[in-house]
Amino acid sequence: MTETIALCEEGQMGRVAQRGLSLWLTGPEETIRLGRSLGTVASRGSVFLMRGGLGAGKTTFVRGFAAGLDCREDVQSPTFTYVLEYLSGRLPLYHLDLYRLAETTEVEMDWLDEYLFGEGVAVVEWSEYLGGYAPEDAFCIHFLLSEADERRLVTLSAAGRTACEVFEAWVNEWSK
Ligand SMILES: Nc1ncnc2c1ncn2[C@@H]1O[C@H](COP(=O)(O)OP(=O)(O)OP(=O)(O)O)[C@@H](O)[C@H]1O
Ligand SMILES: [Mg+2]
Repeated sequence: MTETIALCEEGQMGRVAQRGLSLWLTGPEETIRLGRSLGTVASRGSVFLMRGGLGAGKTTFVRGFAAGLDCREDVQSPTFTYVLEYLSGRLPLYHLDLYRLAETTEVEMDWLDEYLFGEGVAVVEWSEYLGGYAPEDAFCIHFLLSEADERRLVTLSAAGRTACEVFEAWVNEWSK
């Protein structure tokens, strides 16, 4: 079902903890399962930065993530609002979609602080538009569409203490 093609990389000169792994996801149910497993182990203040292009599976992932946090609301795409908050789960979930930032000339990013450095968990679609504003301690999820079929190759990586702790907890959760 899921094939692991790369495994953990230890920190750079002992200063920045890093972890990484890639897997193939066959069908939306597996994308949801991945999201749910990460939502189950996400900790307060953790940030999940997603990349991967149109229709890659980012919002599908967030649906699973919200379920893993025990959110009761239905996840919608926040494309026209930048952010939707789901507050019914174990931790507040901030779902950001920065696609439209590409069309604006807005350079002020301070409004993001309450989500990226807040009391909840932030999941960010089109995180590439954060540029240098992306937190250093973050869990990155990169979706790639297969050229041969409908599968997605997803690369997960963590940098920084909080993200690496989440990564370790996730490895246990995923292998259950
Ligand atoms: N692993 C998968 N294999 C095949 N299809 C998938 C997989 N994961 C998600 N999908 C499907 O891909 C489509 C697009 O998913 P989704 O809306 O989550 O993408 P997105 O990355 O959020 O897109 P956008 O960039 O427009 O926000 C949906 O029909 C979803 O069911
Ligand atoms: Mg989306």
